[in-house]
Amino acid sequence: MISEKMNAALNKQVNAEMYSAYLYLAMQAYFNKLNLTGFVNWMNVQVQEEMAHAKGLYDYIQERGGEIVLDAIEKPEQNWNSPLDVFEAILKHEQLVTSLINNLADVADETKDRAAGLFLQWYIKEQVEEEASVSGVLDTLRMIKDDAHALLLLDRELAARVFNPPVIG
Ligand code: FEO
Repeated sequence: MISEKMNAALNKQVNAEMYSAYLYLAMQAYFNKLNLTGFVNWMNVQVQEEMAHAKGLYDYIQERGGEIVLDAIEKPEQNWNSPLDVFEAILKHEQLVTSLINNLADVADETKDRAAGLFLQWYIKEQVEEEASVSGVLDTLRMIKDDAHALLLLDRELAARVFNPPVIG
């Protein structure tokens, strides 16, 4: 079984991951308007990852006999000034998600839920990767500044990203 507190916290994280997917869908549309197809692909993979993160939590709640309670997904930001602006927003968002995952791990500790603590390890490690991959693109964008040719080279690089369905837990 799962405690009510842990169950509620996990449901909240399902919502946060769905919001992440929604936010990244909005960003994908922004890049689509700019015809930056590599960035569109990168965001598309990001959206699929977030959906997988949400589903991983959803499945875990049910596996532990918990109850799924779905809340409304908040409207995401939809206006950015540049690719750099977008990636700064992504990093900020992923840092927020990291803090949410850490809070979830705190709830697992408080409620002495060893299984949840173990399950959440995957998300803790995933956040390290998420922040690192976003920071990598962000560093390149900061170097690029207004160099359109360099931006197109980065776009080509981001076109190579593929979605590998994660094995969570
Ligand atoms: Fe689900 Fe990007 O963290």
